Amino acid sequence: MQIPIVEIYEIINKEARKGGSLISALEEIQTRYRYLPREALILASERLDVPLSQAYAVATFYNAFSLKPKGKHCFQVCVGTACHVRGSPQVLDHIETKLGLKAGETSHDHMFSLETVNCLGACALGPIIVTNGEYSGQMNAKKSDTLLRRIFRAEGLDKNE
Ligand code: FES
Repeated sequence: MQIPIVEIYEIINKEARKGGSLISALEEIQTRYRYLPREALILASERLDVPLSQAYAVATFYNAFSLKPKGKHCFQVCVGTACHVRGSPQVLDHIETKLGLKAGETSHDHMFSLETVNCLGACALGPIIVTNGEYSGQMNAKKSDTLLRRIFRAEGLDKNE
């Protein structure tokens, strides 16, 4: 994957000019490219005058950031205790089978990523899945199929049909 270094530099520069933070710059880069290339962390460190180790610490601390390219569609299955006892392992198994991915993996075409997360703060609605930032509660295999079908259709894929 080609790294759009000029565009990344422009994002960082824009943040620097308005006195923005490292996190704001990284958020915009993550949103646009679905990951934080190493070069982005180096540029951000230099331009925003923060140690590179701090840039890496931020990039690896928050779940929202990734050092590897994520898929266009990202599924996060909560495996916190409340969701676990309400059936998230079965939901995760089901989605793994449907996507042909294990938790933590991204498809080769960078279309899908599957992740697990720990407690999203909506335990009463568990099991919870976050799809592209949208929360869905009380998930089960059938409901996750509906969710997946909607995305497959939008992408023109007949997977899971
Ligand atoms: S354990 Fe899943 S939202 Fe809290």
